[in-house]
Amino acid sequence: MNKKNTWSDRFETSLHPAIAIFNASINFDIELIEYDLNGSIAHAKMLAKTGIISSEEAQQLNVGLEQIRQEYHQGNFNPGVEAEDIHFAVEKRLIEIVGSVGKKLHTGRSRNDQVGTDIRLYLRAEIEAIKTGLHQFQSVLVNLAEQNIETLIPGYTHLQRAQPLSLAHHLMAYVQMTKRDWERLEDVLKRTNISPLGCGALAGTTLPIDRHYSAELLGFEDIYENSLDGVSDRDFAIEFLCAASLIMVHLSRLSEEMILWASEEFNFIKLNDSCATGSSIMPQKKNPDIPELVRGKTGRVFGHLQGLLVIMKGLPLAYNKDLQEDKEGIFDTVKTIKACLEAMTILLSEGIEFNQSRLNSAVAEDFSNATDVADYLTSKGVPFREAYNLVGKVVKTSLAQGKLLKELTLEEWQQINPAFESDIYTAISPKNVVSARNSYGGTGFEQVKMAISRAKSRLQS
Ligand code: ARG
Repeated sequence: MNKKNTWSDRFETSLHPAIAIFNASINFDIELIEYDLNGSIAHAKMLAKTGIISSEEAQQLNVGLEQIRQEYHQGNFNPGVEAEDIHFAVEKRLIEIVGSVGKKLHTGRSRNDQVGTDIRLYLRAEIEAIKTGLHQFQSVLVNLAEQNIETLIPGYTHLQRAQPLSLAHHLMAYVQMTKRDWERLEDVLKRTNISPLGCGALAGTTLPIDRHYSAELLGFEDIYENSLDGVSDRDFAIEFLCAASLIMVHLSRLSEEMILWASEEFNFIKLNDSCATGSSIMPQKKNPDIPELVRGKTGRVFGHLQGLLVIMKGLPLAYNKDLQEDKEGIFDTVKTIKACLEAMTILLSEGIEFNQSRLNSAVAEDFSNATDVADYLTSKGVPFREAYNLVGKVVKTSLAQGKLLKELTLEEWQQINPAFESDIYTAISPKNVVSARNSYGGTGFEQVKMAISRAKSRLQS
């Protein structure tokens, strides 16, 4: 007969070995060890403050827990599946180290409030790390924008040439997206930084604990009002996965653009060797693996969001073991986001070069200045809709003659409408077309400069 372990004397035999493996989370929740130790240290202090254990006992627990931390850092704490999870693994090792006083640590708490505490502490720290990653990514984008205020790039709608843009304006759009990402994380943090410690298994405890004190020691902003909610809430994790999914949406959109831009057809950027890969059989190729991977990894983050939503939707109150399934998706999301932000930051800072001559010629060889002809006529008193139709006709006949708008003679312009004068040529030159869009938030160089300076002062503060 298997020797029993872990559980109370109600159990006579231990788990079937395959079931023990199935049930265990230690293989992945070892990730929480630092937070589990910090949570236990705060809990022990609280037990001493409230007189539930003596301060000498709390001190012994503290020493034992710190020793476990050291053993872990030295690679000497490697609990196996028999420990089930990080909480049991730490408690078991603690008892080995400090003796029977170790058995007092779990007074007035349960693994349910403990795991909730750990995951919140973990996410709180990782959200800060991701915010830093977003900050670095934005700084690189702003730098690149600053170097490219007067570099022009075709702007698209429906992936059809629409109006030329300042390249900086295009890049700054991603700064705005990731600014919202940053703010969203700040907001998620508010609801993550709330302590469930002391909610017990589900109903609180008969012991005179002080939840505010342990929360304060751990730097939580507040404590859960309701113990059932405290042990079973994962809203904050879902919110985090939503915010993470949106970060991936933004990185993936930029990735898609870089992949297009690096193609022979666009040829707007050149990939540098440090951030490009080759083909195993086609020697001429340089592949944009980095943005492709970022685009591809977006799927797993969306999947983790969907996964947790589905885990939560049918759970009766309060804790259910289903909640053990929250962790791997959260851990993987954190790792994925951090890795993607880092890779994209490197790619932008040293992995690409804009092909200036190609960009210059691209904006000069299309009809993306047609709106400006209509605007020109409008400024001369022609109603916009009339001007719009007229220019449509001009584009049609120019296309038929294989001519660009800048190639029409003044006579030809004046035949279309006598309001045209020789300043039409400057009015429709790409640089002018861009710089004239000086409405707030537009691509005009002055606007872009202001946007860059606002972003810089925000990033500095
Ligand atoms: N490993 C568990 C989890 O991740 C810890 C909590 C277990 N609680 C329980 N009542 N079985 O959720």
